[in-house]
Amino acid sequence: MFQRFRRTRLNPHLRSLVRETLVSVDDFIYPLFVRPGEGIKTEVSSMPGVYQMSLDEVIKECEILKAMGLYKVILFGIPETKDSVGSDAVCDHGIIATAVREIKRAHPDMFVVTDLCFCEYTDHGHCGIIDHVHQTVDNDATLKISAQQAIVHAKAGADLIAPSGMMDGIIETLRDALDGGGYESLPIMSYSTKFASGYYGPFRDVAESEPSFGDRASYQMDPANRREAINESIADEAQGADILMVKPALAFLDIIRDIREVTNLPLAAYNVSGEYALLKLAGKQGLIDYDRVMMETMVGFKRAGADILISYHAKEVAKILN
Ligand code: PBG
Ligand code: ZN
Repeated sequence: MFQRFRRTRLNPHLRSLVRETLVSVDDFIYPLFVRPGEGIKTEVSSMPGVYQMSLDEVIKECEILKAMGLYKVILFGIPETKDSVGSDAVCDHGIIATAVREIKRAHPDMFVVTDLCFCEYTDHGHCGIIDHVHQTVDNDATLKISAQQAIVHAKAGADLIAPSGMMDGIIETLRDALDGGGYESLPIMSYSTKFASGYYGPFRDVAESEPSFGDRASYQMDPANRREAINESIADEAQGADILMVKPALAFLDIIRDIREVTNLPLAAYNVSGEYALLKLAGKQGLIDYDRVMMETMVGFKRAGADILISYHAKEVAKILN
């Protein structure tokens, strides 16, 4: 006697009753790129539909996002000036601090996540202060300025802080700094398992953050390592992270599942720029049914174990779900 699996597939209502994984607009965080100026909205060629925007345009964009049910954004900044230590990122009048303040003023009901890193703010494009002897990022020196950056974000009114630099000890450092500054209730979403990935290519065009020498392999993870990937996230949970993350998502679905199995914390998947670009281009060329492939990809992230999706597709998904 064989099992008749098809019995529950014959009727769309029955299919919806037995569906195991749902994608909701509530799952999404939408990335925004803010730059100085006024009236600027520049599309980036490698990421059609993604723009560098001046703050006035970002504030208009939030209106559109809210109308679609998208209340959560993550901010990336392109500063007026860059230097060796990323000063703009630790200044109360820097691009991100200003953006958070103004967005929260115009839209108190928006939820603003800040990416905490230095690569967009340093003239060398690396994620912290350079250790010239070892030609890498100095971990502990970068922890110090990261704590300052966290306080700048907190003072500006950020709702969630997301360190993405892959410095060891960053979560403990930021938690201590935030608690010490009276921000015990401000949560941290760690980019806890972040791989050194070619899929970040288009992002670095938008954020203007390509390293001027070398690469990020001495601080971001080797895509070949599974056990280390799990350890990275467990360590951040132990240090006090409130939400964990796997990044990129598409080639790392196994890692999302692995981490889901070892933690009870909420888990985010970052559906990165290169993943977005692949679908976009294939869709434009008419090679795939774009909407269908996109939704299948989103459900795949959730089925793998992600609770939260950070994705450039968020608006397109919302259009389909609304
Ligand atoms: C900054 C940062 C990066 C991304 C998010 N935060 C780039 C990088 O590590 O080079 C990548 C996002 C994407 O590709 O969509 N550290
Ligand atoms: Zn960085």
